[in-house]
Amino acid sequence: MTTLIINIKELLQVRETSVSKVSGAEMGILPSIKNAYLVIENNLIADFGAMENLPKINSDKTIDATGKIVLPTWCDSHTHIVYAGNREQEFVDRINGLTYEEIANRGGGILNSAKKLNDSTEEEIYNQSKARLKEIMQLGTGAVEIKSGYGLTVDGELKMLRVIQQLAQNYPITIKATFLGAHAFPLEYKANRQEYIDILINQMLPEIAKNKLANFIDVFCETGYFTVSETEQIMEAGIAFGLKPKIHVNQFNSIGGIQVGVKHKALSVDHLEIMNTEDIQALKNTETMPVALPSCSYFLSIPYTPARDMIAAGLPLALASDYNPGSTPSGNMNFVVATACIKMKMTPEEAINAATINGAYAMGISETHGSITIGKKANIILTKPIPSYYQLPYAFGSNLIDSVFIEGEILI
Ligand code: NIG
Ligand code: FE
Repeated sequence: MTTLIINIKELLQVRETSVSKVSGAEMGILPSIKNAYLVIENNLIADFGAMENLPKINSDKTIDATGKIVLPTWCDSHTHIVYAGNREQEFVDRINGLTYEEIANRGGGILNSAKKLNDSTEEEIYNQSKARLKEIMQLGTGAVEIKSGYGLTVDGELKMLRVIQQLAQNYPITIKATFLGAHAFPLEYKANRQEYIDILINQMLPEIAKNKLANFIDVFCETGYFTVSETEQIMEAGIAFGLKPKIHVNQFNSIGGIQVGVKHKALSVDHLEIMNTEDIQALKNTETMPVALPSCSYFLSIPYTPARDMIAAGLPLALASDYNPGSTPSGNMNFVVATACIKMKMTPEEAINAATINGAYAMGISETHGSITIGKKANIILTKPIPSYYQLPYAFGSNLIDSVFIEGEILI
């Protein structure tokens, strides 16, 4: 099956295979071809170029994209879309004055979602989660990382990871799974934290590794959750089972999580709302991708990741949604890109790089995703007719997507 797209107003994020991420000043450059064509063969990008160089092609289907822009689908490297129910009551409690921390301290927050998850069947969780997955695909996400972390019991964590595995089997979108058993301490272990960590290391991890249920290991390293040394202990155990770390750090406090993540070659360190000079320094010249989650800052009214300082220091930056029931009940990457421009003062070029190639890097898939490159997955967004790609963040509340292709197939 060959699909040819012609007369593309602008084809964005055209890269050589060798580019796996972009950093610092390079983030401000978004290579593109104006008045372009793109050839998709089966599930891969087979060719592209300027219309004046269009070769003779026997295509099964030709799409005229006059006035429309083509870019790679979003790579959302941080979500928690497998969960049960919602936390809309906590949302209203926060409107009425309680903070996220106060809600968590009275047994709400992550523990509230854990109760709901453990009270739901695997099928109920699968059905709720697949609706979220389908929604984000329609919004242009073509690869996604999904975390466990609302089970907090051996059965609950395995149940979540099996749902992620089932989603990956049943949908064309690329899914990476992360084990986040260290998301919060269950109430019964608050006085004996090491006992829960032992269950995580000696019971959950071996079972997960044996059944190949996760690619990565995550820890919520934060005051009131996991300390830096607990984080290190859990990361080391995960690494021993072949799971690369991707960790939650610096959401509310800077406590040294970035430094320990870098020390253990974390693939990414995520959140980063509270960053000091040493934190930025620690990320320089490392393989660790910093990931910002602006929809979380928006929803919780907490600071935004200081993107300008980080990019000025030469760092790369990825953008992800953090879609979850407590801090970010939205997986709309178009909104993430717009919010990064509006609130973090990222340029449209920087934000698009952060949500595509750098997001792919933060999931370990930049060889196959994140740019328009021959041989990569044919995962593309075709926009409605728009004056330029500046519209994507500028018209922040509008849906500018005409169609989404995942592995060469149009979503309907
Ligand atoms: O990334 N910060 C920790 N975990 C999630 C929120 C979890 C929740 O509130 O359910 C996050 O924001
Ligand atoms: Fe998160």
